[in-house]
Amino acid sequence: MKEIVVNMIDKIESLLKEASEFSAKNTGEIEEFRIRMLGKKGSVTLLFDEFKTIPAEQKKELGQKINALKNAVQQKIGELRNSALSDGDIEKIEDPTRPGTNDPIGSRHPISLVRNEIIDIFTRLGYTVADGPEIEDDWHVFSALNFPPEHPARDMQDTFFIEKNPDILLRTHTSSIQVRVMENQQPPIRVICPGRVFRNEAISARAHCIFHQVEGLYIDENVTFADLKQSILYFAKELFGEDAAIRLRPSYFPFTEPSAEVDISCNLCSGKGCAVCKGSGWLEIMGCGMVDTNVLESCGIDSNKYSGFAFGMGIERISMLKFGVKDLRLYFENDLRFLRQFESVI
Ligand code: PHE
Repeated sequence: MKEIVVNMIDKIESLLKEASEFSAKNTGEIEEFRIRMLGKKGSVTLLFDEFKTIPAEQKKELGQKINALKNAVQQKIGELRNSALSDGDIEKIEDPTRPGTNDPIGSRHPISLVRNEIIDIFTRLGYTVADGPEIEDDWHVFSALNFPPEHPARDMQDTFFIEKNPDILLRTHTSSIQVRVMENQQPPIRVICPGRVFRNEAISARAHCIFHQVEGLYIDENVTFADLKQSILYFAKELFGEDAAIRLRPSYFPFTEPSAEVDISCNLCSGKGCAVCKGSGWLEIMGCGMVDTNVLESCGIDSNKYSGFAFGMGIERISMLKFGVKDLRLYFENDLRFLRQFESVI
């Protein structure tokens, strides 16, 4: 009997050595090792079978040794599997009891949500989306749009210049995309131009040097101011609800004549007057107007035959009004506590 016990101790030691020296090239080899040690006919399992035949007085010491061996083998398998996992060998481990990986799902940024919604609305009216470069030349941002040479927007204080003479700059509005569309396409034209724009402004709760716009352009024969007004009313109702009302105030832009500023009835107080609309019941949401004939001609479109309207809005502003966000800077900080609030918004 003594001999059996001595043999078993030898076996335990050699298996311990084998386990500590074992290494695997892939998960298949780990599984082979597991079966060889812990399977039904595995070395460790057979030792346990043999253990049952040992007299009770010798069981204590031997039992501890066998258990230590089993633990060492299991620990080895665990370590090998973990390193296989971090090597990206996950799918090869066929262990149905392993917990699934929990990949967190992100959510859309509120600027993207509102941009997509604006695009959806105008797409339903037959508009297509046009894109253009953020780094532009003077022609597409200013000259083709009828900006007089001394216009303040051309000043260093408003525009980020990359080079001077000839001027290369960061676009201050996405009207530059509309110029590119008109240069390349004859009417009918119906495009919206979403994009990032840049202005040299101090960052505050209400202004940022980078923000997002959607501008639109509609050119065809016999397009009138009434078409403009109706399109914008439709847009306002789609975005803010059936009760939304608009009003137009005369304004000035170099590229439109006549020009107007569009106000929407305050969605927070239903027009009664509150802190957000400063008691007026109205909120300014965009600029618009009939495309100036000089602009049409600069872009190669016959202004005797065609007329059109244009409009432009800041996405941050619309998003602030829609979601009740009070500080523009929140959109740029990527604070998850802010972004997570938009998870449920489609
Ligand atoms: N381009 C103008 C801006 O950036 C917006 C605008 C577009 C106004 C079209 C009128 C017509 O402020």
